[in-house]
Amino acid sequence: MTARSIRIAPSILAADFARLGEEVRDVTEAGAEWIHLDVMDGHFVPNISYGPAVIQSLRKHSDAVFDCHLMIAPADPYLEAFAKAGCDVITVHAEAGPHLHRSLQTIRGLGKKAGVSLNPATPLSMIENVLDDIDLLLIMSVNPGFGGQKFIHSQVDKIAKASAMIGDRPIDIEVDGGVTVETAPLVAKAGANVLVAGSAVFKGTGVEAYRGTVAGIRQAALAGRG
Ligand code: DX5
Ligand code: ZN
Repeated sequence: MTARSIRIAPSILAADFARLGEEVRDVTEAGAEWIHLDVMDGHFVPNISYGPAVIQSLRKHSDAVFDCHLMIAPADPYLEAFAKAGCDVITVHAEAGPHLHRSLQTIRGLGKKAGVSLNPATPLSMIENVLDDIDLLLIMSVNPGFGGQKFIHSQVDKIAKASAMIGDRPIDIEVDGGVTVETAPLVAKAGANVLVAGSAVFKGTGVEAYRGTVAGIRQAALAGRG
């Protein structure tokens, strides 16, 4: 099996919200291929972040893949707005509604890549019947809602099992929460190829600082793959 390319996806939840355009530009210039956009509704998760209008105004600041992580319920009424805002990948939580397959069909129907996210307590069997309908699986390694939380180690085994289940299918395996130079090797070894990192990337300020943090996580991931 050919290894999927490692992609670093800085979560701008940890960026300076007063200078988001500049932060997105800087972190793109620093080598991030993806930008991870955490959308929270204060209902599915106990925090509120930002919505499609903010994403739309960030779009002109970067050509990176806009990776939208919807932590909202319901998600379906808003999928079109996030597609129009310029998201490239739209991920919904399996726990957010009863009609996961419909949500995924809607996202693909909008011409976007469809992702499913699983909370730490949610079993992998949730995606068994939608493997043909997803382009990305997002495994949460913290409980969603906040940046800067501690990595939950039980999720490494879940990533390994997901990787075996997915096999050669063209599905990215993304991990989100507590990813640092210490945990990146573990998740990459288990099979994750898209690494979200908020607080570990947005240490310091500016392109040079971010170049160092992005490269550090990438090197740690590549070393973990062996
Ligand atoms: C948590 C979010 C994450 C968060 C990661 O709900 O989905 O993307 O920003 O932050 P760190 O990397 O600081 O754990
Ligand atoms: Zn996220």
